[in-house]
Amino acid sequence: MEKKGRILSGMRPSGKLHIGHFIGTLNNWVKLQDEYSCYYMVADLHALTTEYANTGNLKDNTQEMVLDWLACGLDPQKSVIFRQSDIKEHSELHMVLSMITPLGWLFRCPTYKEQLKEIKDKDIHTYGFLGYPVLQAADILMYKATHVPVGEDQLPHLELTREIARRFNFLYGEIFPEPKAILSNAPRVPGTDGRKMSKSYNNAICLADTPAEITQKVNQMFTDPQKIRLTDLGHPEGCIVYAFHKFFSENAQETEALCKEGKIGCVADKKELTKNILKILEPVREKREQFAKQKGLVDDILAQGRKQAFDYASQVMAEVLKTIKL
Ligand code: TRP
Repeated sequence: MEKKGRILSGMRPSGKLHIGHFIGTLNNWVKLQDEYSCYYMVADLHALTTEYANTGNLKDNTQEMVLDWLACGLDPQKSVIFRQSDIKEHSELHMVLSMITPLGWLFRCPTYKEQLKEIKDKDIHTYGFLGYPVLQAADILMYKATHVPVGEDQLPHLELTREIARRFNFLYGEIFPEPKAILSNAPRVPGTDGRKMSKSYNNAICLADTPAEITQKVNQMFTDPQKIRLTDLGHPEGCIVYAFHKFFSENAQETEALCKEGKIGCVADKKELTKNILKILEPVREKREQFAKQKGLVDDILAQGRKQAFDYASQVMAEVLKTIKL
C-alpha cells in the first residue's frame, strides 16, 4: 500500500506509562502504523537533559516503556522501534543544526521558560537543556519525517523544527521537508486527584496496574462534596469520577442523569467506573504480562530497530554532509 508519509515520534523513558499516555498518544501512534511509514523512538538522550545526574534507571525505564508500547499495539513488524542513543547520527545532526540555530529562538521557546520556572530540584541551566529542541529537530529531520504525532505541549518544538529545516534548506540546499503536526483529538485525561496526570504527582493509573490497584485508586477519588447520601442530587461537572466516565464509560450520559437526580450513589458510581476502566485496560495489562515474560524480547526489538533506523539515518547524514560540503 502506498503510504501517506513518514512519521517520527518519541517519548522520554521515564518508566511505566499511564492511561493518559494510552488515550492521548499511544492510541494515535498505533492507528498511524498502517497508513504511514513510522519510526518510534525511545528518547534517552533527551532524558539526559534533565536526568544527567540520575542515569541509573534509564535502561530499566526503557524496558518498561517499550513493554507498554507493545502492550498498546505498537508492532515491530509495522514500525521501526528504536533507541535514540543507538543511532549516533542523531548526535551528529544535532551538532550541525546547533551551528545554524540562533540563540534567540531557543531562549524564547515557551517550554524552556516554563521548565526553568518549574523545575527546582535539579539544575537545568545547561547547554544541553537549552538545546533540547535542536536535538528534537535532529530526530525529526534525520528521517525526513513529513508528520509528527505530538501533544499540544510539543507544538513549539515542532515549529522550531520547521524553522531550523527552512534555515538549513535556505543556507545549503533543499533537502528537508517541513514536518506537520498530527494532534491527537483526545482531550487530556486528568489525574485521580483532578490535577494533570503525572507519576510525580502520584495521581496516575498505570498501564501495568493490577485490577486491585485500579480499584483502590478509583475508590480514593474525590467526588461531589455536596452529595453525601445516595439520594442527594449530584453535580457531576466538578466530580473527578465523572470526568473519568467521559473517557471510559459508554453510558456516561445515563450515569450523569442518574447522579443529578439522586438515583445513584458515589460508591455504585465508582464500581461502574472501575468496571469500565478494567474493560479497556485488562487486555493491555494481560498482553504486557505476556510480553514481559519473553526474556530478551525488548532487546531484540531494539536491535532490529537499530538496524532499520541506521539504514535510513546514515544515508540522510551522508546527504547532509555532502550538502554542507563538509
Ligand atoms: N520532547 C518529546 C516529549 O517530551 C519527546 C521527543 C523527543 C520527541 N524527540 C522527539 C517527540 C521527536 C516527537 C518527535 O514528549
